[in-house]
Amino acid sequence: MDIDLNQIEEIINQIGQAQTLEEVDALYLKLMGKSGYIATATRSLSVISKDQVKEIAPKLTQLRQLTETATKKTRLEIKEKEYEKLDLEQLDLTTFEKIKQRKGHLHPVTQFEIEIAELFSKLGFQQFDAPHIDTDENNFELLNIPDNHPARDLWDTLYIDQSKLKVSPGKLLLRTHTSNSQVHIMKGLKPPFRMMSIGRCFRYENLDARHEHTFDQFELIYIDKGVNMGNLQYLSEYFLKAVFGSDIKVRLKPKYYPFVEPGAGVDGQCIFCHGAGCKVCSNSGWLELAGAGMIHPNVLRNGGIDPKKYSGIAWGFGPERMVMLKYGIEDIRLLKSGNLKFLERY
Ligand code: DAH
Repeated sequence: MDIDLNQIEEIINQIGQAQTLEEVDALYLKLMGKSGYIATATRSLSVISKDQVKEIAPKLTQLRQLTETATKKTRLEIKEKEYEKLDLEQLDLTTFEKIKQRKGHLHPVTQFEIEIAELFSKLGFQQFDAPHIDTDENNFELLNIPDNHPARDLWDTLYIDQSKLKVSPGKLLLRTHTSNSQVHIMKGLKPPFRMMSIGRCFRYENLDARHEHTFDQFELIYIDKGVNMGNLQYLSEYFLKAVFGSDIKVRLKPKYYPFVEPGAGVDGQCIFCHGAGCKVCSNSGWLELAGAGMIHPNVLRNGGIDPKKYSGIAWGFGPERMVMLKYGIEDIRLLKSGNLKFLERY
């Protein structure tokens, strides 16, 4: 078995003269790779005489070390030369001037919410911000939805891990709806009042074109003596006519929500087919656009208000859904995608 140490030395010399990192790596592998010269020679030691091994093995060790040091040194030299080149390089910043300046604007959902807040402030409604992280009590129990009540299935809830919390504020969750504002408002104010609450809500949803885990809601509460379903019909028409035009027809239909009695779904006649029936309204001619009702006496009592003296209406809807209908957007996920090409259209 012939072991050609001269050839190995020759390649080590080549490493010293290499000009690029790729060259160095290729030569290094030629020696040290699995089937490289040094590796092959080392394997051959098992088939040569003991005397030859005694002579060659130490030389191989030495060549291995030489390969490592030559590779390290040349790599460093090449890198330093590259850095010198970088120092000499001049950056051309003039291209920045050529990029068209982009003007920022409000998100379409924010624009819509501002518009609606102005609309209702004309009727005397004032804004109130309720917490995003709230207690199970405010989000559910005081709204007539006790623990283990089957109605809880209407809201897929994200609870907070409180195991490391040093205080005990009660069971915490990410609010599933802006209805959590109702009891905060009732406890903080004396009736009569007209309030609105707008903001983020969160649910443990299966995401698709119509469901997001993070979305907004808009809530109205109006409490006074003699408030009734007529007021609800009026407010619903006022709102939907402002958003979709004065010829939209509006109807209330019975719907169950635990915190209102009677509860109502607020329907607008389908803005796409005008009642004839189409894909968007599942051929019914109507779109359900909000949930509402007369505030349940239990909820009024929980807020410290006497249901024998006062009555109230509550009303809630999803601004994202309205914006989608208004502009014909088919996938709710686009709204929070941060995709500027999409957002620049509005
Ligand atoms: N909170 C309800 C939901 O998340 C919407 C709603 C329904 C709000 C009826 C109300 C109401 O104020 O009266 O689906």
